[in-house]
Amino acid sequence: MILFINACVRKESRTLPLAEFAAERMGGDVERVDLDSLPLVPFGKDMLEKREADIAAGDYSDAGYDLAKQFRNADAIVIAAPYWDLSFPSALKCYVEHVCVRGLTFEYGSDGMPVSLCRAKKLVYVSTSGGYMMSEDHGFGYVRQVFGAFFGVAEAMLFKAEGLDIFGADVDSISDKCRTEINNKLTVNGEENKMEEHEITIRIRTSGEKCEMTDAEIREWYLKHVGGLFNKEYGTPDIDVTVERKEI
Ligand SMILES: Cc1cc2nc3c(=O)[nH]c(=O)nc-3n(C[C@H](O)[C@H](O)[C@H](O)COP(=O)(O)O)c2cc1C
Repeated sequence: MILFINACVRKESRTLPLAEFAAERMGGDVERVDLDSLPLVPFGKDMLEKREADIAAGDYSDAGYDLAKQFRNADAIVIAAPYWDLSFPSALKCYVEHVCVRGLTFEYGSDGMPVSLCRAKKLVYVSTSGGYMMSEDHGFGYVRQVFGAFFGVAEAMLFKAEGLDIFGADVDSISDKCRTEINNKLTVNGEENKMEEHEITIRIRTSGEKCEMTDAEIREWYLKHVGGLFNKEYGTPDIDVTVERKEI
């Protein structure tokens, strides 16, 4: 099961469809947690004391542990998180507090280090930002570390689309590039996924008149009229148009 953790908030989120595409590429059943629709609250004094008592009694029957139980059964994790205030929405940190439960998702070894009780070995983190990410450490970097140290998630991948709110930004093409990267780098059911390469030859014969179009114009015409026919669902392919001229 792929656990899809959605930390997006805006209805017209640009992060969410990219992350959904990533989960789809990975294949398999997806269970989704929409953080914005959960009554998540940060851990306060009473909650902490109750949790300590539950852990001491080995009693995880409270519904408050359902998120942690779901988390430990996931085979892979996908996180959709917009870049907020140099990291991610606080609901995601809150979620981490709720799934970090000793005895359920991790245990301490005899050396005092955490030992994972979770199945997931892979994390895919998808984020978009209005400007450029100053450092990945506070967002992706934090999640990768906490998931690695406590939950044994060995492989973490980041897919990002930056600069979306910069005046004049071509949001579609930036998002498309990210989508293409996801498509190329994520495996489907463990299979290596590469876009197939095709060579298509189109001959243009002009009768009488010499072709007045320059090579650059021919390339531009091709990309405008033919390049657009490719299936955009999997991102925009790299199209390399070579023009050869021959008098016949
Ligand atoms: C509360 C909030 C905080 C933000 N903080 C930053 C920031 O620190 N740096 C940045 O480049 N963009 C920032 N942005 C812009 C978002 O990263 C950008 O619009 C992103 O694409 C939003 O993702 P979404 O379309 O999935 O909601 C912020 C946006 C919001 C709403």
